[in-house]
Amino acid sequence: MALWGGRFQGPSSALFQLFNDSLPVDYRLFQQDVEGSIAWADAIASVGILSADECQRLKQALNELLTEVGEDGNAIIASGAEDIHSFVEQRLIAKVGDLGKKLHTGRSRNDQVATDLKLWCKATVAELQHKLHALVGALLALCERELDAVMPGYTHLQRAQPVTFGHWCLAYVEMFERDLSRLNDALKRLDTCPLGSGALAGTAYAIDRQKLALSLGFNGPTLNSLDAVSDRDHVVELCSAASLSMLHLSRMAEDLIFFNSGEAAFIELADNVTSGSSLMPQKKNPDALELIRGKTGRVYGNLMGILTTMKALPLAYNKDMQEDKEGLFDTLDSWGICLDMAALVLEGLKVNRGNALTAAQQGYANATELADYLVAKGMPFREAHHVVGELVVKAIGLGLPLEQLPLELLQQSASVIQDDVFPHLSIEACLGKRDVLGGTAINRVQAALKVKQGD
Ligand code: ARG
Repeated sequence: MALWGGRFQGPSSALFQLFNDSLPVDYRLFQQDVEGSIAWADAIASVGILSADECQRLKQALNELLTEVGEDGNAIIASGAEDIHSFVEQRLIAKVGDLGKKLHTGRSRNDQVATDLKLWCKATVAELQHKLHALVGALLALCERELDAVMPGYTHLQRAQPVTFGHWCLAYVEMFERDLSRLNDALKRLDTCPLGSGALAGTAYAIDRQKLALSLGFNGPTLNSLDAVSDRDHVVELCSAASLSMLHLSRMAEDLIFFNSGEAAFIELADNVTSGSSLMPQKKNPDALELIRGKTGRVYGNLMGILTTMKALPLAYNKDMQEDKEGLFDTLDSWGICLDMAALVLEGLKVNRGNALTAAQQGYANATELADYLVAKGMPFREAHHVVGELVVKAIGLGLPLEQLPLELLQQSASVIQDDVFPHLSIEACLGKRDVLGGTAINRVQAALKVKQGD
């Protein structure tokens, strides 16, 4: 039976029920709905709506319900209730009879759902923080293993300058640490309790909302009832934080898919995160990484979905807002599993140091070094850039790397070049010169890793 039957003379159509009911989605708020209900029982007992004994009986029945139902989402859905709030209330009434009918005094599903969802968000954010930390840990471990492996760094997907593999790892550590700080930031803003806001105007009972908020583990109560029941900023913020983090995950996935390709072959992915082809026996496909890249699309879609649902909604609650949960749940589920999967991929990843080094030595990645050498000999950088450009053309013509060009040929382009030029063109020299805060020199990467490991 619906919670609101009295005003109606005819039943809802089956289609309307199917369309309107949110239980198949919001059953996930069961635990939070019970928690909120227990706190609400205390709140209304404090203003005399429930006697101490009634309050005790209600809370006991709610706690029993928690253990009876547990994690069994299917059982909740099978009840056919309209939503999770109706489910909990119906089960409570079935347990304690008329007393159960008192619990909703002064409360609305509008402040109830807003509270449940914020409680759920807080619990889920804690899990995501944990997963982000674990991913950062996997990157740091990989950095430590492969710190001084050398590979080409790219711009425009053209070989640009050599970098160390450890440096690449720490680039993503920076990104995921920013994701963590965004999550922490969103958490601060969502940590306010809407309960006691009633349907929209505030509850008519003189409850202590500060105490109620603290009892539910919130930082404090919301301060405006109209806003409290219709605010879904936190859903948008979490979808946005997830989208940005998925952006980072998808870039990392794409880098690794390329590094793992036959063309690059800088790394090899472990068997436990790859799959084969039904036709081509030689294939070992980077499915885990492709799915991370692919799931990024639906996470962005959910962000656009909630922004568009909330756009131009009049105050206060509107049923449109029931659409907030499906996308949020899907977003945080997808983000969470991608974080776990990325960590697993990194754990089993092997670097083919030889291939990566050979690639770094090709493609004239030391051209900047030659220009810098000319600068040290007194040539203005712009002129040096031009001279080296011409030398690269000559080298390509001869099929040689810069360091194998004969000295005479180098001198034809710039007479200041002496045979002290060659040590400047080695990979070690290229890396060693990036000895600046944030640079790829091995000692800098070691120092950066130490700092991160100490965090
Ligand atoms: N299932 C609803 C939701 O998720 C709960 C709030 C319903 N409130 C109402 N006045 N119909 O938004």
